[in-house]
Formats: sequence, structure tokens, C-alpha cells
Amino acid sequence: MTPTTFLNAKAGGRKLSMATCYDYTFARLLAKSPVDGILVGDSAAMVVHGHATTLTATLPMMELHVAAVARGAGDKLVVADMPFLSFRKGLTAAMDAAHTLMAAGAHALKLEGVVGHEDVIERLVRSGIPVMGHLGLQPQSVKAYGGFKIQGRDGESALEIARNARALEELGAFAVVIECVLAELAEQISLALTIPTIGIGAGAGCDGQILVLQDLLGLNSDFRPRFARAFFEGEGPLVDALGRFDRAVKDSSFPSLEESFS
Ligand code: KIV
Repeated sequence: MTPTTFLNAKAGGRKLSMATCYDYTFARLLAKSPVDGILVGDSAAMVVHGHATTLTATLPMMELHVAAVARGAGDKLVVADMPFLSFRKGLTAAMDAAHTLMAAGAHALKLEGVVGHEDVIERLVRSGIPVMGHLGLQPQSVKAYGGFKIQGRDGESALEIARNARALEELGAFAVVIECVLAELAEQISLALTIPTIGIGAGAGCDGQILVLQDLLGLNSDFRPRFARAFFEGEGPLVDALGRFDRAVKDSSFPSLEESFS
């Protein structure tokens, strides 16, 4: 899978699937699946490290996750998130951060927003680095929103998202994630662009969909956003397996002779 395959998929009317991933083991599973692309999201800060927002994701954190995922991802497209402020401290700092993530094994980079860092997007694209945009709810702006809120509800903010989507296409992005906007707006944007839109909480009119892997696998029953369908209820069977392990240890049925060296 390459950015060109993504563009061709849209041209051919084929939907795209993506999931987040942060480690080698799950990357291997994704590599065996038909899922089209992997995002090493800065949601790692929340999902893996237990923080309340993505603002605590750092470049070294992302570099480590990207390298682990890249080792297991086979021929999947690996997109890496540029973490909070890493692309807002000037062009040189942004290019250094991009270099770090690409050297760790990313095939493309995702940046939230567009206004104020058009120069970074343009330089990345001209340097041969495929760029994925991210509009609608931009989790790195959660402090400005005052919480994780649906975006583009009124005419002016909807227009701004649509304008930014067009700007990303013009700057050379190969795809754009659209997060938590009304389905009608995401569909209109998808129809207006030639690059694919990858939706999360943005309805079925997008050209593809992305979910956080742990949501998709039902690994967090405490957190179930409305848009995050669990395609597997993983938490129960995993906790059950841990219980069986615990019982087997405590009743001395594990390890057996076959599981021991003598
Ligand atoms: O970091 C992330 O997981 C993301 C997805 C929600 C698209 O950006």
C-alpha cells in the first residue's frame, strides 16, 4: 500500500480502512489482515500511556512506537502522527521532527490542521514525504475547544473545515482524516475532493474509515464513544484468560510436565 494506492482507491470507488497501532505485536496482526493502512497515532499518549489527552505525546515517544510498528507492519502503509507542537516551532524544527519519524520507519506523516503551517506541509510534500491532513476535531486543540467536541456545527465553522480540506489537497496532501463532524459535512467534503477522506465519527460518506485499534477490538469497556464500533469484545475473553492463568498457577496445574524442562 502506498499513497498512490490510496488515491487510486478513491478514483476507483473503493473504500479504505485504517486502524491505529502502537506496537510490534498488533502491527503483525494488522499485516495479516486486509486493513489498508496503519496510523501510529499520537493517541498512543492516551491509549498506551494512560494520559488524558494527546498533548503529552512527544517525538521520542512517537519515534519508539513508529519503529516498533514498522518492524511488524509488512507492506502496510505506516502513517505517523507528528506530535503536539512538533510542526509549529519553525520550518527547520518541523523538518527535523519529520526526519526522525521517517527514519524510524514511517512512510507518511499526519499533521493536524493547516492554517499557520502551510509552509511545513508544502516543504514535506516537496521533500518526497507523503502528508495526511487531519481536520474537524483536532485532539491537539482540545484546550482551545474546552473538551472533545463535535466540530463544524455552524455554517461558518463548517465552511472553514471545507476550505481547509481544499487547501490541504492544493498543498499536495494525499489524504485527510476528518474527525467528529456532522455526516453531511464530511460527505460534501468527500465529494468535493479528489484525495480520499478517512472518517472517524464523521459518517459513512467518507472515502474510508479509521478506528483506534483498542476501540475496534473492544479492549476498553470504560470508554465507548458512539462512533467507535467494537468489532470484537476483547476485554472479557482477555480478562477471562488471565483468570484461568491465575487459577492454574494457584492450583499448581501450570506448568505441566510437558511445559517444564527436566
Ligand atoms: O491519534 C489518533 O489516533 C488519530 C485518529 C483518531 C485519527 O489521530
